[in-house]
Amino acid sequence: MILVTGGAGFIGANFILDWLRENDEPVLNLDKLTYAGNRENLAELSGDPRYAFVQGDIGDKSLVGELLSRHRPRAVINFAAESHVDRSIHGPGEFIQTNIVGTFNLLENVRAYYAAMSEAEKAKFRFLHVSTDEVYGSLKAEDPAFSETNRFEPNSPYSASKAASDHLVRAYHHTYGLPVLTTNCSNNYGPYQFPEKLIPLMIVNALAGKPLPVYGDGQQIRDWLYVGDHCSAIRTVLAGGQIGETYNVGGWNEKPNLDIVHAICGLLDELRPHADGRSYREQITYVADRPGHDRRYAIDASKIERELGWRPAETFATGIRKTVHWYLDNAAWINNVQTGAYREWVEKNYSGRDA
Ligand code: NAD
Ligand code: DAU
Repeated sequence: MILVTGGAGFIGANFILDWLRENDEPVLNLDKLTYAGNRENLAELSGDPRYAFVQGDIGDKSLVGELLSRHRPRAVINFAAESHVDRSIHGPGEFIQTNIVGTFNLLENVRAYYAAMSEAEKAKFRFLHVSTDEVYGSLKAEDPAFSETNRFEPNSPYSASKAASDHLVRAYHHTYGLPVLTTNCSNNYGPYQFPEKLIPLMIVNALAGKPLPVYGDGQQIRDWLYVGDHCSAIRTVLAGGQIGETYNVGGWNEKPNLDIVHAICGLLDELRPHADGRSYREQITYVADRPGHDRRYAIDASKIERELGWRPAETFATGIRKTVHWYLDNAAWINNVQTGAYREWVEKNYSGRDA
């Protein structure tokens, strides 16, 4: 069996659902259920004997130790993190706690677990750390895309905390021989993404007739990857990645934010047109920029293709259409995540930004 941390969040939930569609190896999901964790994402697995859930913190040493010795996973896949850049600007403390101290605690537990394994068990075991392209910092328009050898130059408390966790994972391999793998992925989108991130926020606001808040000039570039492709990349790295290596994962799909918002508006104009014929584009508003906003990310995903044969299956056109359909078909999910805490976050992040 495998232990997945943070599996009630956006990517972790998609990973578990895909994993159990692909094979029957059981999954134990350890998730703290922060505002971003949602058991509803995994509702279709209720009663499935291949799936078990434990609510808890990766930083809880005794809980993690007990789970490892009781369930004896042959892999640990670490998705658990505070993941939203804007929240890290408003309050970095939790990012340090979970992303750095939490990952350290997890590594310490896994080190002890690994040390007590037989040689045969050791040969099979992997610790896969799910990280981000943001550790590499920001690119200029003319710069080549990030490769695995780029320097780490994180610019937000979020990316700095992820960079620190990546360094710890690396150190546990070099110092203690832990069989680690790290993936650094670009921006994901798809089903179950919490509507604080650009794509679901724009879809949800558009449908509610609210403004579509574009930061700054909207020309910041991200490399967008459909979440199912990220999940298949993680499975590929877990199965065949070289121990101690890092793999960049991306969609070969650089786009300015404004193009993303226009694509969403175009799809909604087609699939859920306003009764009066107005375009959703009319809801776009420019708001004050994110402090320290990284201008451009781009991933060179040639290493994972060359060494492991992975390439994304979706194009942006197919992935964004599926995603918009999913949000249109899942109004109850959207409704359920827009709790008081969500409304407070929206108020905190968007009030006071100049229009
Ligand atoms: P998310 O915020 O949607 O989910 C994070 C999950 O982790 C939640 O279920 C939350 O409850 C859980 N969690 C938080 N703190 C925890 C703790 N201390 N112990 C146990 N569980 C805890 O995040 P996501 O977008 O699904 O991202 C998952 C991982 O992938 C993160 O490590 C993130 O840095 C990385 N990543 C995300 C993206 C992206 O575009 N979303 C891209 C590249 C890498
Ligand atoms: O690059 C990978 C990273 O992508 C992950 O590591 C992070 O976990 C994930 O949150 C994401 O970070 P970003 O900051 O790029 O994602 P976000 O969706 O918050 O923003 C995407 C872009 O859209 C960014 O340039 C900021 C802009 N934006 C975002 C919001 C929420 C807006 O213009 N308006 C908004 O309201």
